[in-house]
Amino acid sequence: MIRSLIVAKAKNNVIGANNDLIWDLPRDMQFFKDTTMGHPIIMGRRNYDSIPPKWRPLPNRENCIITRKEGFEAEKCLVFGSVEEALDHYKGTDQKVFVIGGGQIYKYALDHNLVDEMFITHIDHEFEGDTYFPDFDESEWNIEVIMESEIDEKNPYSFIVKKYTRKV
Ligand SMILES: NC(=O)c1ccc[n+]([C@@H]2O[C@H](COP(=O)([O-])OP(=O)(O)OC[C@H]3O[C@@H](n4cnc5c(N)ncnc54)[C@H](OP(=O)(O)O)[C@@H]3O)[C@@H](O)[C@H]2O)c1
Repeated sequence: MIRSLIVAKAKNNVIGANNDLIWDLPRDMQFFKDTTMGHPIIMGRRNYDSIPPKWRPLPNRENCIITRKEGFEAEKCLVFGSVEEALDHYKGTDQKVFVIGGGQIYKYALDHNLVDEMFITHIDHEFEGDTYFPDFDESEWNIEVIMESEIDEKNPYSFIVKKYTRKV
């Protein structure tokens, strides 16, 4: 199993506001879709709630929801009481499992060393919001730029995507 994480963050580390995404960047959405397609995804209960009902569960990916609520159920999703429990479910498989947020779940996964690699979209803009990607020590990671995207009529901000692989 590879434990992966994927996020899009603003220059000031904002990732969301009012339990929603802030920016509309179809090219980054496509990158998220292409990267996670076919792989299990792990998300906090608030992130799950933020996805419009008609689009969830996200298709062709096993959707795992993390909650402390006893008896929580969501149609066609797996529900776990912790990030570790969700990862344990895939232990011993050759799956690549993606932590897809939100803020609490990213912080928990990084604080507890539960991530082997990260795909971080760095948006070249600051946003106001209420949810942040946590600070982390860049020196612990090998970093490679894997995509650069300029502003165009459909994508109002430029961004770069970096792949972070934990140094051994
Ligand atoms: N830009 C991006 O790439 C990106 C990606 C994903 C999400 N987001 C944004 O992030 C925001 C949501 O993030 P958030 O931080 O508010 O919430 P979240 O991390 O999605 O979910 C928080 C919930 O997860 C459960 N939880 C958290 N820690 C837990 C633990 N240790 N054990 C068991 N359950 C735990 C709790 O659920 P219960 O309350 O049910 O117990 C908690 O309320 C939204 O604005 C969303 O749009 C942005």
